[in-house]
Amino acid sequence: MDQVRDLARKERPKLIWCGGTAVPRTIDFPAFAEIARETGAVLAADVAHIAGLIAGGAHPSPVGHADVISTTTHKTLRGPRGAMIMSTAEHAKAIDKAVFPGLQGGPHNHTTAAIAVALREAAQPDFPAYARQIVANAKALAAALTERGYDLVSGGTDNHLILIDLTNKGVAGKPAAKALDLAGIELNHNAVPFDPRKPFDPSGLRLGTAAITTRGLTEERMPRIAAWLDEVVQAVAKDDDAVFDRVAAEIRELLADHPMPGWAPAS
Ligand SMILES: Cc1ncc(COP(=O)(O)O)c(C=O)c1O
Repeated sequence: MDQVRDLARKERPKLIWCGGTAVPRTIDFPAFAEIARETGAVLAADVAHIAGLIAGGAHPSPVGHADVISTTTHKTLRGPRGAMIMSTAEHAKAIDKAVFPGLQGGPHNHTTAAIAVALREAAQPDFPAYARQIVANAKALAAALTERGYDLVSGGTDNHLILIDLTNKGVAGKPAAKALDLAGIELNHNAVPFDPRKPFDPSGLRLGTAAITTRGLTEERMPRIAAWLDEVVQAVAKDDDAVFDRVAAEIRELLADHPMPGWAPAS
């Protein structure tokens, strides 16, 4: 935050954005707000990743700190692919005008209806338990990965997200993500801070626990997931394809007892 303050004092931006796509730690909205106030900037918070955690009380809210809040609706908020922009009354007119007719065409009413359903779900009394469980699972998974020698950016996580730097494993992010996909573990290759590799062939993996939490997995399953991930990453280094199929079968077996809510495979 000292760097943010120094940069804002030097550059005097009109707008400061906080939030991020691979930030495993709590975003300090009051600190950003103080810097924005001091330097005369509008503060916008992009809470796309953590919107569900905020709704469930598992991450502090930017409301009352940021002038503008943007979010997608399909990450931890667990809704359809879509987005929302919230703002103070001061900026509402300008944002409405920029969105339509500036950027958006006709309304996608089906998506808007699905967002309403997602928000209703997020307002139910059991949603905070879901949000807390996402974080508990991420912390347990982070601990299990650390135990297996994985180098986690920032040393762990406060939210749903883990960013692994694979450099010490001798494997790049892209082949690891591809192998994990074959083995039934969905995540993505991702750059890590000060990544010596190129952005399209980076050193890291980014993964989150929202989906497995929705399927009812809890902390005690995380060491097994870390073990599978480790097996597959080691198999990439050794080019051992048979491991991917075996891990995929083992994961299918585990998830057969944890079906996706509201969905069943055709029999
Ligand atoms: C912080 C942040 N904002 C916005 C987006 C946009 O989301 P999408 O491309 O899924 O619509 C992302 C995607 O990862 C994100 O990480």
